Amino acid sequence: MLVYFMAMVLMGVSVFGAPKERTTFSFQFLMPDVQPKKPDTYLCHGIDAGEEDVFITAFSPRANKDVAHHILLYGCEEPGSTSSVWNCGEMAKSDSKYDSANVCARGSQILYAWAMDAPNLHLPKDVAFKVGGNTGVKTLVLQVHYKNVSSFVEPENATDASGLILTTTEQPQKRRAGVYLMVTGGEIPGKSIEYLEAACAFPDAELEIHPFAYRTHAHKLGRVISGYRVRDQHWEEIGRQDPRKPQMFYNVTSPNLTVRQGDILASRCTMENNYDHNVRIGPTQNDEMCNLYIMYYVDGDRLLEPNTCYTQGAPRWYWEDFPDQQAINLAGVPATVSVVPGDKMVMEKTISEKSDDGFPGLGSHDLGQNDKTGYDAAVDDLLDEAVSNMEPDEVEQLVAEALSPQRGHPGTTGGRQTRLGWLTSHMYGHNRY
Ligand code: CU
Ligand code: CU
Repeated sequence: MLVYFMAMVLMGVSVFGAPKERTTFSFQFLMPDVQPKKPDTYLCHGIDAGEEDVFITAFSPRANKDVAHHILLYGCEEPGSTSSVWNCGEMAKSDSKYDSANVCARGSQILYAWAMDAPNLHLPKDVAFKVGGNTGVKTLVLQVHYKNVSSFVEPENATDASGLILTTTEQPQKRRAGVYLMVTGGEIPGKSIEYLEAACAFPDAELEIHPFAYRTHAHKLGRVISGYRVRDQHWEEIGRQDPRKPQMFYNVTSPNLTVRQGDILASRCTMENNYDHNVRIGPTQNDEMCNLYIMYYVDGDRLLEPNTCYTQGAPRWYWEDFPDQQAINLAGVPATVSVVPGDKMVMEKTISEKSDDGFPGLGSHDLGQNDKTGYDAAVDDLLDEAVSNMEPDEVEQLVAEALSPQRGHPGTTGGRQTRLGWLTSHMYGHNRY
């Protein structure tokens, strides 16, 4: 069992007589000679984070670029499987040698992401991820995406030990790292460019966070994903990336920007749907996702709670639906918000008249106060569709949102908690990238 491996490595320092001042050590977190047999296999490997607090101060990949397409490090409250290695992609049945399960069964958060040709991520000075002990990260799970498996089958039958080298210490660090996730539900009409937008008031009165890196995640339709801090009606970019680029953590646009009470965090995914059919937010390859991960640090030990901003997304929620219109000041949105980095053209929203399955394309212009009928009809359509795929309590929740006067704005605390629960069961379990 690898359960106490990390603890043993930590103890190893004193056992083997290292000098007392040496407090950091490298931990090799590598796949245990796995043998994926089918292309695009996602394998997970977990280790217990131990009873004591452990501080991770650096990550460096040890990957064979020819076989490892990406590597993600997750912190789980409970891993998806107790096996040493399991399939953890959506096409989970693809490799019969291993069991299939989610990355985490409970309490999933991304700590690090590496993809081909990505530079190393250096955490700022005195910053660490705290895992183990009572942190809620009880298991660390490594996910490797094996795109090309030709070396693992006949005649070579090779095995792989890609992974990460974690620099760890048991010495508490002054600053703690966390990840804030901005995510939407919603739908992208066929033959359209659509914006999936989220915005939440900063949820903590005492905390100030320092965003230093961000990661975008979409499937096939994402063209630009960007995030902002809105302070005193002024928009400042946190990050903007093309999600077709390697989906690792990039340095933020404004390195010294902080976020605190009174600020609004906002994000937009610009999606281009060239299909005839609508594409919904969901967990499979045929669905889409609109995720922006903001990696930040705080001075001290207390992280931001809640750590997720969720909105329903198009066609039910846009920035203009933010409860405090004046505070968000849409006139101040940067002109580059839907410009693919390196490009000059704004990807302007276009809405198809009617898609092939009869769902009317709806834009925010259709959602004004004077057009309630169209809005409600669209919500009904969405609910009908949703019902077929959902558990009864989720349907109830969606209906409650649709009927509530505020339509479950992210500002309404009650709705928020329930939605987070919904998200946890439906979106976090999915770990394909
Ligand atoms: Cu990959
Ligand atoms: Cu996804």
